[in-house]
Amino acid sequence: MMKHYTIGGALALALLTSTAIAQTDANGVAQIPTVAAQPAATATSPDKSLVVTIALDNDGRPTYAVTRKGKPVLNPSKLGVMFTDAPKIERNLELIGKTTASADSSWTQPFGEWKTIRDRHNELALRFREKTGLKREMDVTFRIFDDGIGFRYSFPDQPNLHQANIADELTEFAFAQNGTAWWKPALQWNREEYLYEKTPLDAVGTAQTVMTVKLADGTHAAVHEAALIDYAAMNLARSEGNTFKAALTPGAGAPKVVRTAPFASPWRTVILSDDAPGLYMSHLELNLNEPNKLGDVSWIKPGKFVGVWWNMIKGDWTWATGPKHGATTANVKTYIDFAAANRIPGVLVEGWNVGWNGDWFGNGNDMQFDQPTPDFDAAELYRYAKAKGVYLVGHNETGGSASHYDAQLDRAFSYARDHGIPVIKTGYVTDAGQIERVDADGTRKREWHEGQWMANHYLRVVQTAAKYKVGIDSHEPIKDTGLRRTYPNWLSREGGRGMEYNAWPGKNPPNHEANMFFTQWLGGPMDFTPGVLSLEGSGGSPLLSTEAKQLALYVVIYSPVTMAADTPENYAKHMDAFQFIRDVPVDWSETRVLNGEVGEYVTVARKDRAGEDWYLGSITNEAPRMLTVALNFLDSGRNYTAEVYRDGAGADYRTSARHAIAIEKRSVKKGDTLSLALAPGGGQAIRFVAAGKARRR
Ligand code: NOJ
Ligand code: CA
Repeated sequence: MMKHYTIGGALALALLTSTAIAQTDANGVAQIPTVAAQPAATATSPDKSLVVTIALDNDGRPTYAVTRKGKPVLNPSKLGVMFTDAPKIERNLELIGKTTASADSSWTQPFGEWKTIRDRHNELALRFREKTGLKREMDVTFRIFDDGIGFRYSFPDQPNLHQANIADELTEFAFAQNGTAWWKPALQWNREEYLYEKTPLDAVGTAQTVMTVKLADGTHAAVHEAALIDYAAMNLARSEGNTFKAALTPGAGAPKVVRTAPFASPWRTVILSDDAPGLYMSHLELNLNEPNKLGDVSWIKPGKFVGVWWNMIKGDWTWATGPKHGATTANVKTYIDFAAANRIPGVLVEGWNVGWNGDWFGNGNDMQFDQPTPDFDAAELYRYAKAKGVYLVGHNETGGSASHYDAQLDRAFSYARDHGIPVIKTGYVTDAGQIERVDADGTRKREWHEGQWMANHYLRVVQTAAKYKVGIDSHEPIKDTGLRRTYPNWLSREGGRGMEYNAWPGKNPPNHEANMFFTQWLGGPMDFTPGVLSLEGSGGSPLLSTEAKQLALYVVIYSPVTMAADTPENYAKHMDAFQFIRDVPVDWSETRVLNGEVGEYVTVARKDRAGEDWYLGSITNEAPRMLTVALNFLDSGRNYTAEVYRDGAGADYRTSARHAIAIEKRSVKKGDTLSLALAPGGGQAIRFVAAGKARRR
């Protein structure tokens, strides 16, 4: 990385001094002319398509603005921070230092959507200082990629800013054009589990990130954050027109963030692209996270799993012990047998431990994460699973009692280690703002899932799990900000409306996954739990999906731990389609998004990390469509057999023909064109089997 330094407030100030003179109006009232902010610094992306301009106005207020291909994307947008016990840092600032750097390197994901990730960006780091008064210093560092920007605040340790009690940020995102936004509401009771709204940009309320926007000129933007560590999550509160202000998630105390300088905020990120597929192809999110801190991570086990789960979600079995208890030794053995017979490495078991009897929702204080129920023979199941080449996936539901879980982490993970459990699904089922925190002095507090204290809790769980060589799949999590790069054992998470909503009334609508792909899934993997081939939730209620779409989701969704969510009995009725779930991998060397529009459709091609086969998944919303894809992603000079699982004649998510599926084979090669006919609420899944190449497993 090259760095160039220029330090010198006097020089910068000379450029910024304004000569505007106040006028009076007819009534003699002084009219303060608007003084155009003077550029204090500019920086471009490596390909020069993005230009970031930082300016200071006459009052010493810093702003940043972004143009793309010469057109404004973000108008001058404020920067700054408010404190609970000190004046805000927002005005009266001068620029006293500037460094630039550029980077172009590549790194390898231990597992992921791409094997190799290129990180090419220019960096501009600015130091501002208050001209008078407390004379506090604030750094803002921009990283400008060809496909977007990230910036963050950092605060050097200084006499007037040692402990920072942050009330909120003043960071703005002032979109330069109107457009359409896909967003879900922030700070509501049901955490992250809301459907996406599609509204004009200037009709958004307070949104969670990722918020995706299609601007009037067609430019796509996705606003999010990266490397959310020891800080509160950022939401976006629309202040006026197309302007949004960062709104940090609260905590139990008055400051939303308490930090001791020196410290840095997470990166505030905006991915920019000509089209929706380009948003997903960006690596900006991962590149703004620190490299792997765990060293050798060969012990981390990506893989598919089945589970003692869907029957509970549907209400046929219970987590609690009793006549309908799901996690009995006999039931778990059935799932182990099914997994072994179908080369699925993992079996999730929920409701295996003491603590579920009674009201566990919002109260996990009875949960014991190393004590199985009497009808769950842990030693026997460990032996039985191991003999069949299967491992159990653990489950720790905290009911939101996070401190109670904290106190048990070492016990929970040593239990997992001793029972050959490589992955634990965690859970935090309680309403937003109702996480129970108990301090060392016994004080009980209520926290938000995405507040600073919980950001630290989730990471503490992941870090402690790593000591025991256990991976984590968090449900009711904090949002994904790319920390899987730094802590690869943070395998996956939920954080949105997953398959479980299809068990209940108010099912996910057909556009849900096409919304999620271009919003939440830009942030990272989701444990969505696809593959309900019965297409039935509780009481036989139908899913709003075709059978082929369930298969396509295995390629569309990236998650290194991916569930085959239906029951063995149900899969037994759909073994022809289930073959695709058996075959599809969870780890990829390449990913291409071939087409897509937010909330409408998307087609994804991915190459097996452990072999030469390619896979394709294509999904649509309620609209039927015919998509043409060029098979340019296939390797040249190689013949493939395409194993196609497509919507059959008359397939439709609204009728019993949702099960109509056609499975066929054809020979293809690079450069061929395929037509994908997607039914209403439908999809298509294809495995491209490379001729003469056995899978390396
Ligand atoms: C909600 C999770 O999303 C679901 O997967 C789990 O089964 C229940 N909580 C119980 O922990
Ligand atoms: Ca959930």
